[in-house]
Amino acid sequence: MRMVDLIEKKVSKEALTNEEIKFVVNNFVSGSVPDYQMSAFMMAVVFNGMTEQETADLTMAMMHSGDVIDLSDLRGIKVDKHSTGGVGDTTTLVVAPLVAACGGTVAKMSGRGLGHTGGTLDKLESIPGVNIEQPMEKFKEIVNNIGVAVIGQTGNLVPADKKMYALRDVTGTVSSIPLIASSIMSKKLAAGADAIVLDVKTGSGAFMQTVSDAQILAHLMVQIGALVGRHCVAVITDMNQPLGLAVGNALEVREAVELLSGKIAKGDPLYEVCMLLGVNMMLLSNLASTEEEARAKLENALNSGAGLKKLQQMITAQGGDASYICMDRIDELCSVKRHIDIMPKQAGYISSIHAERIGTAAQMLGAGRATKEDVIDPAVGLVMKKRLGDRVELTDALCTMYVNDEARLQEAIDMFYSAFTISEDKPEYRPMIYDIVRE
Ligand code: URA
Ligand code: CA
Repeated sequence: MRMVDLIEKKVSKEALTNEEIKFVVNNFVSGSVPDYQMSAFMMAVVFNGMTEQETADLTMAMMHSGDVIDLSDLRGIKVDKHSTGGVGDTTTLVVAPLVAACGGTVAKMSGRGLGHTGGTLDKLESIPGVNIEQPMEKFKEIVNNIGVAVIGQTGNLVPADKKMYALRDVTGTVSSIPLIASSIMSKKLAAGADAIVLDVKTGSGAFMQTVSDAQILAHLMVQIGALVGRHCVAVITDMNQPLGLAVGNALEVREAVELLSGKIAKGDPLYEVCMLLGVNMMLLSNLASTEEEARAKLENALNSGAGLKKLQQMITAQGGDASYICMDRIDELCSVKRHIDIMPKQAGYISSIHAERIGTAAQMLGAGRATKEDVIDPAVGLVMKKRLGDRVELTDALCTMYVNDEARLQEAIDMFYSAFTISEDKPEYRPMIYDIVRE
């Protein structure tokens, strides 16, 4: 087989066989297919797409390029969740303990934030002592004891994705649905869960800018899961503004603690998306037979304080100081030199918010990384005071910024303002949840 023939086959809009796809992936990972051929191949995929079968074959070839984690010695159905990336998206810290408090088994590997999106690992590390690098045996022991652990990737998971993603990033080949689906699913499948709930974001802060693209991606990922015997559900949720009000690491942990302490009302977007993900994790785990039953169990775990207690247990098991994980002390983790209220430049209705720019403003304050080497400040970021559709007067703050280092403060403020459109007319209502895609 020659790589050039396979590139030409994709250029001619033909489907590759499983053998051919394995050849591409394995030889790219080993180094015998050079970057320029892989770039050409992926660009042909951007233009000509892949069939469902090709995408599934690509996913499996990528998954088997490195370690595949075996969680079969853990009790129960292992359930995972994954979000395609958002701003102010603190769902894992709420849903993972809630589902565990209801008897679920949540063995989760998370990532770090890059660019405008936050990462669960960085949020966890804003809690003193938390160790996200647990050896596999210890990780399994924690999950077996308390039902939940959240750690960073261990071992050599999906090296094909690392290499392909780095190349996609610099060759304009990120935005291909088959390449995104195989990138996400190869990592999720390699991480070993039996069942996966996928939260596909759509809107100004997301990879998928339209609901119909999000639906195509969601269906494809659910199909790939089914083809390899893993049960997946994908929900499509709005990312036309930050999901929660907090954008920043300790600030998002605080919002999760508020939610788990009953301080955030039903109907709030973060609350509702957490419930949606939790309900589907419960159903896939056979812990409830209807949505109503699943939701009632989750709300019971929330209202009784069992979910908060589970988060505290997880923090303790991972070496952290759980005494901060309560309403009395969580503010201590968010202590900064200055709070700055950002006032609107005009009165009116907030008719659009560019979520990515809000995330970038928080990053400029030190909450996120522009490059992998950047060090983040856990306490800084911003807390939104207004949501899409709200009326604002000149005296109403749009957000409060939490500031330590002022080096890029003005840049952050300018970026923040550039995220808003304020108009005379009240904008149309936008749903929070667009669709649920099942097998
Ligand atoms: N997230 C991933 O992990 N991969 C993609 O290609 C896009 C989003
Ligand atoms: Ca549907």
